[in-house]
Amino acid sequence: MKVGILSGGGDAPGINAVIRAVVKKGVQTYDYEIVGIKNGWRGLLEADFIVLDLDETSGILPRGGSILGTSRTNPFKPKNKAQQIMRNVEDSDLSAVVAIGGEDTLGVAFKLSKLGLPVVGVPKTIDNDLCGTDYTFGFNTAVSIATETLDRLHTTAESHQRVIILEVMGRYTGWIALEAGLAGGADAILIPEKPFDIDEICNVVKHRQSRGKDFSVVVVAEGAKPKEGKEILYSKGRDAFGHVRFGGVGYYIGREIERRINTETRVAVLGHLQRGGSPTAFDRILATRYGIAAIDLVHQGEYGCMVGIQGNKIVSIPLKDVVGKRKTVDLEFYELASIFFG
Ligand code: F6P
Repeated sequence: MKVGILSGGGDAPGINAVIRAVVKKGVQTYDYEIVGIKNGWRGLLEADFIVLDLDETSGILPRGGSILGTSRTNPFKPKNKAQQIMRNVEDSDLSAVVAIGGEDTLGVAFKLSKLGLPVVGVPKTIDNDLCGTDYTFGFNTAVSIATETLDRLHTTAESHQRVIILEVMGRYTGWIALEAGLAGGADAILIPEKPFDIDEICNVVKHRQSRGKDFSVVVVAEGAKPKEGKEILYSKGRDAFGHVRFGGVGYYIGREIERRINTETRVAVLGHLQRGGSPTAFDRILATRYGIAAIDLVHQGEYGCMVGIQGNKIVSIPLKDVVGKRKTVDLEFYELASIFFG
């Protein structure tokens, strides 16, 4: 039996660990032929495939990015090309597809599954905003990098008596900001789920100054917005899934703090540094468990679902319960973090 595998959307550390696990168990245990589909759904539209065997996937466990490449191609937009996909699946004799992706890639997987595509999803995004799973792989790596960055920013902020703002990714949810902020001892954490008040941030800085702490470190998710305004965008254009590009909220906050309380600020934007490079041990293990579970589901003929982790158990969740919603930050968890603000 031939099984295709693709990675779509933004990359996340651990994609190659999933691919390696699918190939290892698929080939060795089930005697499957595994076909790599290049660059997400685009590769299925263009029938752009490579054969993945044990040799091809040896040594990729610690490697960042995706050996298959990725894209944000949406086969339903601007034109509906779903039939082209279904034809290519049939012509190339694929019996099933493993789709590694976030809300967009899995949204497409769900639509195609309703058209008859036998598909299993694997939850991937550094944002950790997918429903049905406690963790997406890639998130732990992003949090670790952002935490290390906060540690580094602390020492320079303290030496220069400055306020430093770290802008991290997270367009609709603040999981990275919250967990890195908690682990890195941030003095304020700003997330998209809770519009922020600049005066409150200034009060945190002033309060710290009044108790002899003449430096502060603030972490902000790119999608966080001021109470009185809108999200700050890098550009207004939208991708094939309708997403705008965020960026710049850190600079907005830095400038406002300087203007309102005359305290020197600096801004660091972590950007794609938190997405590139090697996965943490946690993500390598999670991605490996996901890959094994995905190929097992294929073997059982259980399609239209996504693997996930709940507690420490690997589970399967119907795609209909995953797509079209978002796992936002638990505000009780945020309240806990706020005990350390100021
Ligand atoms: O979806 C994950 C993510 O990393 C978001 O946090 C971020 O807004 C977006 O991707 C950036 O996408 P791109 O790589 O296209 O700039």
